[in-house]
Amino acid sequence: MMLKAVILIGGPQKGTRFRPLSLDVPKPLFPVAGFPMIQHHIEACAAVPDIKEVLLLGYFPVQQIQQFVTDMMAQYKIRIRYLQEYTALGTAGGIYHFRDQISSGNPDAFFVLNGDVCGDFPLQEMLEFHTKLKDPSLLTIMGTEATRQQSNMYGCIVEDKHTHKILHYVEKPSTFVSHLINCGVYICSPAIFKKVGEVFSSRQDFYCDENNDNSETIQLEQDILMPLAGTGQAYVYTTDRWWSQIKTAGSAIYANRHYLQLYHKERKERLAENGTDKPTIMGDVFIHPTATVDSTAVLGPNVSIGKNAVIGAGVRIRESIILGNSTIQEHSCILYSVVGWNSTVGSWTRLEGTPCDPNPNKPFAKMDNVPLFNTEGKLNPSITILGCNVSVPSEIIVLNSIVLPHKDLPRSYKNEIIL
Ligand code: GTP
Repeated sequence: MMLKAVILIGGPQKGTRFRPLSLDVPKPLFPVAGFPMIQHHIEACAAVPDIKEVLLLGYFPVQQIQQFVTDMMAQYKIRIRYLQEYTALGTAGGIYHFRDQISSGNPDAFFVLNGDVCGDFPLQEMLEFHTKLKDPSLLTIMGTEATRQQSNMYGCIVEDKHTHKILHYVEKPSTFVSHLINCGVYICSPAIFKKVGEVFSSRQDFYCDENNDNSETIQLEQDILMPLAGTGQAYVYTTDRWWSQIKTAGSAIYANRHYLQLYHKERKERLAENGTDKPTIMGDVFIHPTATVDSTAVLGPNVSIGKNAVIGAGVRIRESIILGNSTIQEHSCILYSVVGWNSTVGSWTRLEGTPCDPNPNKPFAKMDNVPLFNTEGKLNPSITILGCNVSVPSEIIVLNSIVLPHKDLPRSYKNEIIL
């Protein structure tokens, strides 16, 4: 069997809820648990022996993605290409536009993965489910159970419990439809191109009249999945493994924690260990080999330290991501925060945020779509984020605040966006 995988990485406009972190690097390349967000997808694809090529589809300029592609090919020894859409073509529009590249070599099927989801993707198990179906499936979706309160923020699926055929699909319904939600991971048969082509052709006729140039924007969820539901050609494979979306900067902290937990189970060599003349490690911590961490620092649980970062004496960091080339000076404390590239935090300073878990399975977990501001115009409690090249002086407190890049903070802040 020969398979391909397509990872939808979107483009510059897609990362707005991820600001200020997406101002310096395309959101799909933001490091979570030490590695770019979509490296986790590539790693999952490379672990499926039948996947022979990974195609990244997006509308970022090529020069922003190419180095990553070169690095990934060298590391995973798999063919990877970036296909750039000339404009946002939608989650199925790009797949249709590049149908020749996806179909070359006649793959039996191809995976499609949304770039902004994270999880312990059971791709091999899903493939076995897909290939063992009695009737051929045009589209198999990975689904997971969400709580009633959270389900309406996702695509909701109603299945036939015996055959797993999708009977009904609604994207972000306004009233409760189903606990079963779309994980943004699909297996498509090449015959899907015909279906997308039909939508494309109908749009051409319509938009010719309207003189609108948006005719190629086709959404996999609304334009393909919804009409396919109930036809017996779409199936759902349900998983109970960890899965979530990464929409906001706050959800990066959550994804960081879970990928570190996954390393704990499967790739322990990536995690820092305690030892003489080493910092104290509590729980799961990733330290880039080029980072310098003082032996009196205490890190963890759920901390990632990036390339060439310097962590001073007596520093305490918990549930946070420290990006490359940052310096945290002695005795500072960092909790539920992201420190951007090339930033400096002075000594005896405290950066603290409030966790914001997007977990669809937890009934009262803080949700990913909490509005940024409350009714008094103050920032709602969130993780604390420093953009890149921020300088925080010694002996101040920054609580639940977002600092845009290139700022020298003069004082303490609480629940503010510092522009
Ligand atoms: P939002 O809540 O509005 O973000 O919707 P959603 O969760 O349904 O996400 P959406 O369908 O917009 O995007 C799913 C994935 O597809 C994300 O990883 C996007 O970056 C990616 N994506 C979205 N639109 C496009 C597009 O036009 N082209 C490409 N290549 N990728 C896209």
